[in-house]
Amino acid sequence: MNLSIIAAVGKNNELGKNNDLIWHFKNDMKFFKETTIGHHMIMGRKTFQSLPKLLEGRKHLVLTRSQLQFPEEVDVFKSVEEFLETYKNSEEEVFDIGGASIYKELLDYASKLYLTEIEAEFPDADVYFPNFNKEDFDREELTHFQDEKTKINYKHVLYKRRK
Ligand SMILES: NC(=O)c1ccc[n+]([C@@H]2O[C@H](COP(=O)([O-])OP(=O)(O)OC[C@H]3O[C@@H](n4cnc5c(N)ncnc54)[C@H](OP(=O)(O)O)[C@@H]3O)[C@@H](O)[C@H]2O)c1
Repeated sequence: MNLSIIAAVGKNNELGKNNDLIWHFKNDMKFFKETTIGHHMIMGRKTFQSLPKLLEGRKHLVLTRSQLQFPEEVDVFKSVEEFLETYKNSEEEVFDIGGASIYKELLDYASKLYLTEIEAEFPDADVYFPNFNKEDFDREELTHFQDEKTKINYKHVLYKRRK
């Protein structure tokens, strides 16, 4: 299993509101695309439904307990166990792209976390990234940006789980 998490979080781990993202930064979208392109992405049903369309060049894996219909190129899993069993012997880097419930359920299985750490707060958030023990990870800052429009600073940070 080669699982990575990718998420954009506010100062208090804010992730989203009303089933949408809080911040939309151009260079963060670019980082997300460059990091995930060519890979498989596991996500919760709500995050899948919040996507404007299928994201090009990436395999979509969706967790749902429902009987909803999904596009035929999407692989559907009924449980975390079913997903883990399917990928347990795979070298493929699978990205957990959220949302809050899937980050929480898969955090213990992730060896890398790509976090966009945003230097802003959003008190109206209704979903949060789970707390994790930073002692278990080595932290590397990859980039620093300031969003042109909002002047909000953010950085891309890679947390690698210590062996
Ligand atoms: N900031 C970021 O980087 C980021 C990234 C992604 C998402 N988000 C935000 O996060 C929010 C969505 O997060 P969320 O936690 O509300 O929803 P979610 O994790 O995207 O989806 C939850 C759904 O996933 C399915 N699910 C969860 N655990 C499952 C399991 N063990 N087995 C089978 N199915 C399972 C269920 O679908 P059914 O109800 O169909 O059974 C559940 O209702 C939105 O605001 C979104 O914009 C933020």
